[in-house]
Amino acid sequence: MNTIEKDVAEILIDQESIAKRVEEMGAQISADYEGTELMLVAVLKGSVVFLSDLMRHITIPHTIDFMATSSYGHVTESTGVVKILKDLDMPVTDKHVLIVEDIIDTGNTLAYLLRILQERNPKSIRVATLLDKKERRTVPVVVDYVGFEIPNKFVVGYGLDFGEIYRNLPYIGVLKPEIYASGLSG
Ligand code: IMP
Ligand code: MG
Repeated sequence: MNTIEKDVAEILIDQESIAKRVEEMGAQISADYEGTELMLVAVLKGSVVFLSDLMRHITIPHTIDFMATSSYGHVTESTGVVKILKDLDMPVTDKHVLIVEDIIDTGNTLAYLLRILQERNPKSIRVATLLDKKERRTVPVVVDYVGFEIPNKFVVGYGLDFGEIYRNLPYIGVLKPEIYASGLSG
């Protein structure tokens, strides 16, 4: 049987812990943005699972929109060069924008997004991320809502991929070393 579970060496954050934390984040965001026009901007594709859970714990009216970026580099390392593959459908002018990210690693992607969205004059702009690999930061960025700080390990699941696979794992896991060793994937 070809399951993806067999490739997982370690579960770093289990399903229950994620659910509990995402619920807390939703409650906090609902309280903080009460009475404002909130727009969630999710960064494809890694953040879609987090977005779908988070938005169902946000009890105030809000809109969602998507952006896709690519960063050139090795599969598990990003470079400083970021490109927009898909832009937002809706204007952010006069909206309170909350960027929804799966993980902040070097900070390159986020710094770039903040810069280009800021130029469009939103009322405010903040960041919510499920995971933060703080020790990997090379570009300083302010992250307002953090689900979990994690160590410097490459993780998959709950939206995060390795070579576009493993996004459907319901938890955050670390793959067996031989999976990475099998070379470039995707
Ligand atoms: P940054 O620009 O270096 O902060 O990288 C952010 C992007 O790199 C994330 O949105 C992910 O797509 C990817 N990334 C960084 N670390 C991981 C990881 O541990 N697993 C899966 N993707 C990752
Ligand atoms: Mg991403």
